[in-house]
Amino acid sequence: ERLDRLADAIEGADSTVALTGAGVSTASGIPDFRGEDGIWNAEFDPGDFRIERFLSDPAGFWVDRLELHEAMFPGEVGPNAAHEALATMESRGALDALITQNTDGLHAEAGSKELFELHGNANRVVCMDCGRKNDAAPVRERVREGERPPRCDCGGLVKPDVVLFGESLPEAIMAESRRRAEESDVFLAVGSSLTVEPAASLPRIAARDGLLAVCNLDPTPHDGVAEVVLREDVTEVLPALVDRLP
Ligand code: OAD
Repeated sequence: ERLDRLADAIEGADSTVALTGAGVSTASGIPDFRGEDGIWNAEFDPGDFRIERFLSDPAGFWVDRLELHEAMFPGEVGPNAAHEALATMESRGALDALITQNTDGLHAEAGSKELFELHGNANRVVCMDCGRKNDAAPVRERVREGERPPRCDCGGLVKPDVVLFGESLPEAIMAESRRRAEESDVFLAVGSSLTVEPAASLPRIAARDGLLAVCNLDPTPHDGVAEVVLREDVTEVLPALVDRLP
C-alpha cells in the first residue's frame, strides 16, 4: 500500500520535510484559495491584495482586508488532525522541518517547532517605517471603528505581517527552506495546489534526488514527478501515516 511505502521511506530517511498549504486548514473551518469553495473563486479578487494596491490605497486595502479576514475566520479556529499529526511526527523524530504557506498560525498552535512560515502570519501586523510588529486583532478593531488606514505610534503605515502578491518572501526563511528541501530524502507536499511561486518550486527541488509525496484533493502540477500521489483528505492521510510510524 502507498501509505506503508511512504512510512517505510520516512523511517529510513535522514531527513523528512513537509510543505503545507491552505488545504491543511480547511477542516478547521478556514476556506482555501483555489479549492472547491476557495476564497479566490468567491467574491474576492487577488488583485485587491497586491502590495501596489496597499501602497496606493491603504485605506481601501484595509477595508477589503477586514472583509477577507471575516470570510477566512468566520469564528474561533483551532488546529485539526492534520496539524496535530505533523506536530506528532516532529516530536517522534519523523519530521525535521515544516514549511508552510499558511498565515493562520495553526501549526505553531499545534506544537510544531521547526517551522518556517513562508508567507508570514496574519495574527500580526508590521509597521512599514519602523518595522515594529504588533498583534493584528486590536488593529482590525481600530479599522472597524474607522481608523483608515491604521498607523503605528511612529506614524508609519501598518500592514498585515503577511507576504502580499507582488512582495518578495523573507529571504532568510526562503533560503533555509530551499536548503531543507534540497537535503531532504522525503518531502511531503500536503494540502497545497502548488501553484504559487516560489513555494511551489520546493517540491520540484526535493524530487531531484529524494522521494516526493503529494497529498491533495485536487491534482497539482507536480503530481507527475511525485513517487506517491494521494488524492485524499489530509486529515485522514496524516494521522494514518502517524499510525504506521514506529
Ligand atoms: P490553494 O487554495 O491554492 O490550494 C489548496 C489545495 O488544498 C487545493 O488544491 C485543495 O484541493 C486542497 N484541499 C483542500 N482541503 C483539503 C483537504 N482536507 N485534504 C487535502 N487537500 C485539500 O492554497 P495554497 O496552495 O496554500 O498566498 O495557496 C498558496 C498561496 O496562495 C497562499 O499561501 C496564499 C494564496 O494566495 C499568500 O497568502 C501570500
